[in-house]
Amino acid sequence: MGMAESEGSNQAEKRDFAPSTALGYLDPSYWDERFSREEHYEWLKDYSHFRHLMQQNVKPGSTVLELGCGNSQLCENLYEDRVTEITCIDLSAVAVERTQKRVQSKGYKGCIVRGQWRPMEPSTCNSS
Ligand SMILES: C[S@@+](CC[C@H](N)C(=O)[O-])C[C@H]1O[C@@H](n2cnc3c(N)ncnc32)[C@H](O)[C@@H]1O
Repeated sequence: MGMAESEGSNQAEKRDFAPSTALGYLDPSYWDERFSREEHYEWLKDYSHFRHLMQQNVKPGSTVLELGCGNSQLCENLYEDRVTEITCIDLSAVAVERTQKRVQSKGYKGCIVRGQWRPMEPSTCNSS
């Protein structure tokens, strides 16, 4: 999962939010509970770190599907860079509701936020 979670500056958050085992990430209630307490978190890096790559590859007028948006601000960042047709999907109802409220309050009408349940079997995550 995200690089940021293992970096030093996020150690306090990691202690607060990390599940006891990696399988916890497969539990939808983990995400709902986490997003109820956590306003915003970027699992990779802040948009400013990869904005230049996005601008090379995602042009204004593109349509974007963001899978597992969580409470990231990527959709707003893209919207502000004139990529205004974005669908964000997450299995967490809390993430969907909060992200929806956030983009609506900013008037970003092209940002559509939806809930989607994609069950994953724990057995598919075993490395052996
Ligand atoms: C590691 S977080 C990443 C959040 C965000 N993309 C970011 O970079 O900050 C993974 C997100 O994917 C969602 N998720 C995990 N499995 C999913 C699935 N099978 N279907 C839909 N969303 C899923 C979780 O609810 C969580 O918000």
